[in-house]
Amino acid sequence: MNSPSNSTLLDFAQVSMTFEDGTRALEDISFSVKAGEFVTVVGPSGCGKSTLLRIASHLEHNTGGVCTVDRDSIGYVFQDATLLPWRTVERNVELVAELHKVGKAERARRSAEAIELVGLKGFETKYPRQLSGGMRMRASLARSLVMKPKVFLFDEPFGALDEITRERLNGEVLNLFEHEGFAGLFITHSITEAVYMSTRVLVMSARPGKIVQEFNIPFAYPRSHDLRYSPEFAELCGEISHALRGAHQ
Ligand SMILES: Nc1ncnc2c1ncn2[C@@H]1O[C@H](COP(=O)(O)OP(=O)(O)OP(=O)(O)O)[C@@H](O)[C@H]1O
Ligand SMILES: [Mg+2]
Repeated sequence: MNSPSNSTLLDFAQVSMTFEDGTRALEDISFSVKAGEFVTVVGPSGCGKSTLLRIASHLEHNTGGVCTVDRDSIGYVFQDATLLPWRTVERNVELVAELHKVGKAERARRSAEAIELVGLKGFETKYPRQLSGGMRMRASLARSLVMKPKVFLFDEPFGALDEITRERLNGEVLNLFEHEGFAGLFITHSITEAVYMSTRVLVMSARPGKIVQEFNIPFAYPRSHDLRYSPEFAELCGEISHALRGAHQ
């Protein structure tokens, strides 16, 4: 397995993906995510965004180019929280650590810490069905945090949540991004969310997905809730929206 050099944590070099049935999902994707970066990808439905994350997490193998990442340094949060219904919050959060063969006491310690970090203290013994959608996403986040990942992959994690909950979780993820020091690769359909979260936004074209435009987001962290209502923010959203409309053609 290739490991990326210096501060580059995840690197795509001319990555392409053609599925067995001939579907060309990705073409010539080149970009990297460095320590301290939060990179968001936006693009039309079906353009290959999830495929890109699946390649980064080794769930799928690219047919062209090279994806370089340290497999053990990755955390994921996917669109549905994928919690095991028969395990409590605590036992779900311990799951990834269990798979990595972390000892029982250490697992319990890390899990308690992660549960506290995501604001689920007091809910340790609840089952997923007893949680709200936002709480389930928090538990899913905690499950990966336990392994202290260097890169976090997020595939539309908050798409199914109401706007207020989504904004609150955006703030919480950014807080973790700053304090836990992981880099992020985030997928969303929300331009506001993309700009609010990121140091950089990449716009992909319709399938086969290519990166057609890149935007640096200049706002410092911590980002205030009200940033979303500033003229500079609106202007960037407008530019990205324009690029996305071009990408749908
Ligand atoms: N295993 C597979 N075999 C064949 N085609 C596939 C496979 N997985 C995905 N695809 C196709 O690859 C393309 C990209 O899929 P992907 O799920 O990456 O899109 P996406 O950008 O995440 O879309 P959305 O925004 O709707 O989630 C789609 O046309 C999809 O049908
Ligand atoms: Mg997807």
